[in-house]
Amino acid sequence: MKEALLRRMCALEDRWFDIRHGIDTTGVVPREFLKTDSAYRKDATAYHAAWCRSIRILIQKCAALGIRPEIFIDIGSGKGKPCFYAATTNRFRRIIGLEFDASLVDQANVFLKKGFAKYPIEFLHADAASYELGAMPQSLIFMFNPFGAEVMRLFIHNNRDALRTYKHVIAYSNDMQQGVLGELGMRQLFRDPVRKMSLWQYE
Ligand SMILES: C[S@@+](CC[C@H](N)C(=O)[O-])C[C@H]1O[C@@H](n2cnc3c(N)ncnc32)[C@H](O)[C@@H]1O
Repeated sequence: MKEALLRRMCALEDRWFDIRHGIDTTGVVPREFLKTDSAYRKDATAYHAAWCRSIRILIQKCAALGIRPEIFIDIGSGKGKPCFYAATTNRFRRIIGLEFDASLVDQANVFLKKGFAKYPIEFLHADAASYELGAMPQSLIFMFNPFGAEVMRLFIHNNRDALRTYKHVIAYSNDMQQGVLGELGMRQLFRDPVRKMSLWQYE
């Protein structure tokens, strides 16, 4: 499909998703306007929302590999769109968004009350650089290029045992730091080099 046409179709799908649920996940918050006192703000990317299409493809590819995670976690969840989209698939029994900008967490919670109150979604105000997953059933850990190599290394390092033990899968859209995941010994289960999205897991 021609790139321009694909972009238009995705924009339409995304707009319709927001309208249908009475939310607005559009817009960009540049890194310098993110409201956080994290020492890792310098490693963050700007807020903007992933395409529904990318979230869908990664969830479906994971299922096609015979992997059925019980929990969906978005690392750097912004206004919450991937969590909301994941909820509508009815594949997950718990959905968690983790975000270090408190005003984005507040916004996501407003949308949660408005259009998604019946779903098991929670948003946490936390820094991925120090967040520990702890003991939880197999999860699909979604990331839409939230940060650079430094925080990616910290996140994987701090959660390496949990990633191995519970066989969590990282679903990485716009996978700018995919080299870091390979470097840290994760196995690539799938990659679309054109759209730059991939799935990763420890053996
Ligand atoms: C590209 S946006 C993606 C937002 C959301 N996943 C979506 O697709 O709608 C990246 C998000 O990651 C957040 N972020 C960046 N570094 C973070 C960190 N260390 N801890 C938590 N959130 C972080 C940013 O504030 C931003 O909202």
